[in-house]
Amino acid sequence: VGVLAIGHNITPLKKAYRELEESRSQLRGLIAHREQVREEERKYIAREVHDELGQILTGLRMSISYLEHQLVNHSPQWPEYLEEAKTLSKEAMAVVKNVASSLRPAVLDVGIVAALEWLAGRFGSNTNIHCNVHVPAHDVELEEAHSIALFRIAQEALTNVARHAKATRVDILLDREGQDYVLRVRDNGHGFDTTTKKVNSFGLMGIRERALLLNGTFEIHSRPGSGTEIAVRIPVPASTPMAPAKVEKI
Ligand SMILES: Nc1ncnc2c1ncn2[C@@H]1O[C@H](COP(=O)(O)OP(=O)(O)OP(=O)(O)O)[C@@H](O)[C@H]1O
Ligand SMILES: [Mg+2]
Repeated sequence: VGVLAIGHNITPLKKAYRELEESRSQLRGLIAHREQVREEERKYIAREVHDELGQILTGLRMSISYLEHQLVNHSPQWPEYLEEAKTLSKEAMAVVKNVASSLRPAVLDVGIVAALEWLAGRFGSNTNIHCNVHVPAHDVELEEAHSIALFRIAQEALTNVARHAKATRVDILLDREGQDYVLRVRDNGHGFDTTTKKVNSFGLMGIRERALLLNGTFEIHSRPGSGTEIAVRIPVPASTPMAPAKVEKI
């Protein structure tokens, strides 16, 4: 009788477990989908800002230069106003470039290596933390989805370095190890205790999710007093075309 009773109790548990697994996998699928939509949106807005607004501003600058040419002898105040208008349109152009590349750097179209170098250069000048990129000597050929994922992971990791690490140096390393690409972001900051969980902290979770969606893995090594390293390993079949991202169970 006892055995039977246990059997009866286990069934709903199993069902609940299956449902939990299902909803986890649905949640992953949803996150992946949303991420893809966001990425497309970023690309669209970046193009729109850069191409459309950029073109308008270029036109404006040309008109101002023309006016300057025509009017400069007619009124003593013109040069001053024109100079100011020119400075403003130049500043607006710089903002346009900055906004567009923050949303989606054009270098991403060239490839992950160029994009990481661009990211490091920008991070270095914004934070005064030395940022070096180490990449393989051979060409890195990755599908766009993989490149974007690695780029966004590096970006998130660098944001953490700037916000939390108090580092003076950070290294971004991209390597091919067998069939995998491995991205490491290593800083020389003060580290942290990886066993304590923080609420409302989503950066590392996002990195992990991006890695899992590409059938990869994510590791973090850190200790208070020593630096932090995040490592993401993503499998890339050498010659066979890559399978679409699969939702992995935990
Ligand atoms: N490079 C680092 N150096 C030191 N501490 C770090 C580093 N990266 C992460 N941490 C610690 O891990 C915690 C979790 O990081 P996570 O990116 O998940 O969240 P967050 O940065 O706090 O918030 P957000 O959700 O905006 O990213 C951080 O609050 C910080 O304490
Ligand atoms: Mg963070």
